[in-house]
Amino acid sequence: MASITPISQSQPLFNNTQFRHRKFNNNKNNMFFTNPNSRAFTGQSSSSSSANKNKKMVVMVSATTAAEKPKKRYPGEAKGFVEEMRFVAMKLHTRDQAKEGEKDSEGPPVAKWEPSVDGYLRFLVDSKLVYDTLEKIVQNASFPEYAEFRNTGLERSDSLAKDLEWFKEQGHTIPEPSTPGVSYANYLKELSKKDPQAFICHFYNIYFAHTAGGRMIGRKVAEKILNKKELEFYKWNGDLSQLLQNVRQKLNRVAENWTREEKNHCLEETEKSFKLSGDILRLILS
Ligand code: HEM
Repeated sequence: MASITPISQSQPLFNNTQFRHRKFNNNKNNMFFTNPNSRAFTGQSSSSSSANKNKKMVVMVSATTAAEKPKKRYPGEAKGFVEEMRFVAMKLHTRDQAKEGEKDSEGPPVAKWEPSVDGYLRFLVDSKLVYDTLEKIVQNASFPEYAEFRNTGLERSDSLAKDLEWFKEQGHTIPEPSTPGVSYANYLKELSKKDPQAFICHFYNIYFAHTAGGRMIGRKVAEKILNKKELEFYKWNGDLSQLLQNVRQKLNRVAENWTREEKNHCLEETEKSFKLSGDILRLILS
């Protein structure tokens, strides 16, 4: 998403059919084929004009002697893998959502949204299903590295349960989860068993998006339809920036054990994460 716009019309960032898994098992040394000419390496937007392409070429080649092979650098790499994930995610926002966004907006900006309580409830219910699923996955930890992400303080399942209880007390009927939430939850369950790099991409995007754009959306919706009531969904115990920093460090540590191909595979999953989250976000306007 990064938008409330039809995802199907967005340009895939990693659309090269040569990105294929070579091996697919529960071994953390999975290897994947990756095309080094892909945009994953260059960070080029598929919609860039050719004039812009050179400007946007973000792979850097470190200083080398004539005998050395040039070493490719990836945007954000020097700061750690989270910065690489963030770089890819920010480009998938529309220009009106975030200043680093590169996509054209096709729908109204959040400030112009006209949400309904029923639509917002559908969004909260489906979000809860996704957080319940993520939180169960890290508890069960089918890959040992998932256990790092237990009790980070970013969990949203309990806070969403309280919010839904509050809506019930106000006389609203809580709907059953709908297709966007059910599909995303099923997808995460499957992915988590067989593809830890892709799963971690969703984990990062879901929790971090919610603390950034998600909070802003929550504020705007509350102003319009909840008499500014701040839901538990948007409250964290403790210092949020410290919680985020702790999770960034854990993500960076986990990714230190990945090959470059595994890292690229993780980055390639970002677009799917935007699409599936966007489908849930759109429920607010349903
Ligand atoms: C209407 C929808 C959205 C809006 C308005 C929005 C807006 C924003 C804004 C303003 C930021 C902060 C930029 C900054 O640090 O300067 C941000 C960060 C981010 N967004 Fe979004 N966003 C939206 C949807 C999404 C979606 C669907 C995803 C992925 C599932 C996503 C992933 C992220 C990530 C990973 C960050 C970086 C957070 C961090 O560095 O801590 N966003 N977004």
